[in-house]
Amino acid sequence: MATLAVDAQDYMRSMGHVALFYPNSEDGPAAAKLLKLAGFVETQMLPFPQGNFYRFVVHDSNRSRGDGIVYLSALPAAQAAVNKAAREALGYGTDKEHEAVKALRAAVEADPEYTFHVGTLVDSFEAIEKMTLDFMDANENDPDLKGRLKVTVNRPRQGNEQIDALLDASPAFGNVTRYAYGRNGLQLFVETDLLSSGQIGDTLILEFDYVWPGYDSHILSVVEL
Ligand SMILES: [Fe+2]
Repeated sequence: MATLAVDAQDYMRSMGHVALFYPNSEDGPAAAKLLKLAGFVETQMLPFPQGNFYRFVVHDSNRSRGDGIVYLSALPAAQAAVNKAAREALGYGTDKEHEAVKALRAAVEADPEYTFHVGTLVDSFEAIEKMTLDFMDANENDPDLKGRLKVTVNRPRQGNEQIDALLDASPAFGNVTRYAYGRNGLQLFVETDLLSSGQIGDTLILEFDYVWPGYDSHILSVVEL
């Protein structure tokens, strides 16, 4: 197993916040609905003419902390203008679309980790199983989220009998045939055009991970090729 020697530190540091943007001002409530469906906790909402500003936290216990925060606001005009110019120059969505755009789309289709994404660790198998079913249902039936979510799951590498049997029997994961670059953990990806990222600002991918307790080697501790 690969390990790295790391110097001990005498202070704490954690991931603080991520700032997410929805591309169109009218998409704010639907983007916020998606974050709530994902289990983030809304602590603040300020209405602005260009679109609502939201503060979410990853867990109720982070309400008044400086970490575990997700800010959500409308894509600023200057950023939107660059995305628009890039799309026009590359023929985005037209029959003359640049090969590079098609190639990137194909790469992200094949592997949601190919591009920028935001990962959240979820400490409950039942919760991540319910989230998976909820996202799939919302993409089919929720009037605000219908057709806006692409759900992809990676199961852990096979070989742990207990985990393999649990997943085979799961209504959310039984049919999954994709596998993670590691063991003893599961990855749920939701790609949405309700959030914007990248050079052309088309979609953002949210990742949610579950790691089975009691293993030092798992998908988030050791990458296996
Ligand atoms: Fe990832």
